[in-house]
Amino acid sequence: MTMIIDGKAIAKEIRKELKEKTEILFNEQGIRPGLALMIVGEDPASKVYVNMKAKACEELGYYSIIEKMSADTEEAVVLAKIAEWNGNPQIHGILVQMPLPKQINPDKVIEAISPLKDVDGFHPSNVGRMIIGLPGFIPCTPAGIIEMLKRYNINASGKHTVVLGRSNIVGKPIANLMFQKRKETNSIVTVCHTATKDFTQYTLQADILIAAAGVPEMIKAKDIKSGAVIIDVGTNRVEDPSAPKGYRLTGDVDFESVKHKVSAISPVPGGVGPMTITMLLDNTYKSAVKEYYD
Ligand code: GUN
Repeated sequence: MTMIIDGKAIAKEIRKELKEKTEILFNEQGIRPGLALMIVGEDPASKVYVNMKAKACEELGYYSIIEKMSADTEEAVVLAKIAEWNGNPQIHGILVQMPLPKQINPDKVIEAISPLKDVDGFHPSNVGRMIIGLPGFIPCTPAGIIEMLKRYNINASGKHTVVLGRSNIVGKPIANLMFQKRKETNSIVTVCHTATKDFTQYTLQADILIAAAGVPEMIKAKDIKSGAVIIDVGTNRVEDPSAPKGYRLTGDVDFESVKHKVSAISPVPGGVGPMTITMLLDNTYKSAVKEYYD
């Protein structure tokens, strides 16, 4: 029978654990995990995400602030605010919501954030540390995927993982993590991307398929091996006049087509999505207790 990897349920469980640990941390050491969020401009989806992140902090008893800047803000102003947060001991995590307006260089912004507060795991120092297996912050979506595999006892060791997509946020880090020599990873990894002419020849070999291409329902039953494990990272809005908002969310995998052929699958919505903010909260807690760097 197909196992549904319920990210929503795992996320709830982890948030409950974090809330309990946060209360203990505050009572015993007077430390409250703190997250500073910045949004530049008026992108509606970014506003929704930032508000969700702040609300999640509130629910766990974290301290959080949102700095809202206008779309024409100069880069120097953003960098100055980051420098201020880097030096503020109440703030353990800094997140600048992407994308940024054109006049601001995202690489400069990412590098300005102290690696010790880089709870997105985007700083080159953390990316490098991850690649060579040193402690550091792991980007939230890949961290969420690993946690899902762990909690569902899916052991990738010696298996073939195929990753679709090579973004800095998901594809590159998850491909790297999946071949690292750890119990739940240790797999053989293939990465498909926009230059892959026939992705099916690779996906058919996948024991574990991680789809992060951003193409709605590109993976059908004919593209996968029987019994594969599917992690669907796609969060695509497709028009649907019958839906209340006029659109529905769908993954990179055609769930209905593959569900009887796979051994396990994460749905969209309710799979990887809820895990991403949860791992941001986890990274912020870890930063507050300096679990990674001491
Ligand atoms: N924009 C979309 N996803 C993310 C994310 O994980 N972190 C940040 N900072 N911006 C994003």
